[in-house]
Amino acid sequence: MKSNLIILVAIALLFASCSKPLKTIKPGEIWPDNNGVHINAHGGGILFHEGKYYWFGEHKIEGEKGNQAWVGVHCYSSKNLTDWKDEGIALEVVKDNPESQITEGCVLERPKVIYNAETKKFVIWFHLELKGQGSDASRSGVAVSNNVTGPFEFVKSFRPNAGFWPQNVQDFHKLPVADSILAKYCGGKGCLPNHPDSLNILGRDFEGGQMARDQNLFVDDDGKAYHIYSSEENSTTHISQLTDDYLSDAGNFVRVFSDRYMEAPAMFKHAGKYYLIASDCTGWTPNAARLAWAPTVFGPWVELGNPCIGENADSTFYSQSTFVLPVQGKENAFIYMGDRWTPKNAIDGRYIWLPIKFNENGIPYLEWMAEWDLSVFEKM
Ligand code: GAL
Repeated sequence: MKSNLIILVAIALLFASCSKPLKTIKPGEIWPDNNGVHINAHGGGILFHEGKYYWFGEHKIEGEKGNQAWVGVHCYSSKNLTDWKDEGIALEVVKDNPESQITEGCVLERPKVIYNAETKKFVIWFHLELKGQGSDASRSGVAVSNNVTGPFEFVKSFRPNAGFWPQNVQDFHKLPVADSILAKYCGGKGCLPNHPDSLNILGRDFEGGQMARDQNLFVDDDGKAYHIYSSEENSTTHISQLTDDYLSDAGNFVRVFSDRYMEAPAMFKHAGKYYLIASDCTGWTPNAARLAWAPTVFGPWVELGNPCIGENADSTFYSQSTFVLPVQGKENAFIYMGDRWTPKNAIDGRYIWLPIKFNENGIPYLEWMAEWDLSVFEKM
């Protein structure tokens, strides 16, 4: 009799735990962390490590001033992708040292963290603009840590791939820059070419390194990591292999989407194919997202148009991509992570997370959902 009762209670408890509704994700709403404070991790990305997700992003402050970096890169952890624990500042900007490349007031954007299993280091890459120089510097910054939540130590900043030509370099890139512009496009008389490629920005920047603004990282199944960055005055994207320690670009890269002015690149791999979601180049103002796919990381990349459908598709539901998160333990589960920027009060930026769905041809698409939970992936 007593044992029957115990079994009944056990079944009831099991049932109660199974039927507990999953917490929901509400794109565009305030997203409180474990302290009830809106998550402050903009332009971010997520690393899954030893059973937990770690969300790293730009810590913004109030007002327009918040568009510069006064604090650093904020880290949060979660097991379920809805409840986030504040893990503090993983990489701090440097206070009281104007000589530092990451001095407070610099622009430190789109931080992304990956783990190197060989060196056992966590490596963070970010877009760096030196303080007071607008967007002229166009550099990549790298910092490392032995612990996932930091503190990360700044290693260096640079323009990638100095002294290396991309795999798909064209002959004219190697001509003396001024001559190539004049002879090839301006009949030797001097004028401003209207086609960015004709400026040969690649050739101009060959020695000093290529411009790198909006950026992301992608680690393939074989452990090779890639740096994807908007280059050549934002006109062209570069996909660049990292060295085995993930601390540098390896000099092995391709130019893609020439003259397409892609920003906010986010790469993922699904069923053996590589996908990239990106944006157009309109600053903080949202625009229509772009989707592309390729059989290999280096291409050939083919654009597939705007992956968003329905109302507000042309503004990516008022967001700009920052990362595509593979949900752990599920085959076809990916989350689009975007930012809804609020440049007048940077700290108030919102997060637009949506499940990536696949149509009958296996092409990814995004639909607005005001509230959803991870069970959407069960139905895919
Ligand atoms: C966006 C870019 C952001 C930020 C912003 C500044 O296009 O994606 O990361 O740099 O411009 O205007």
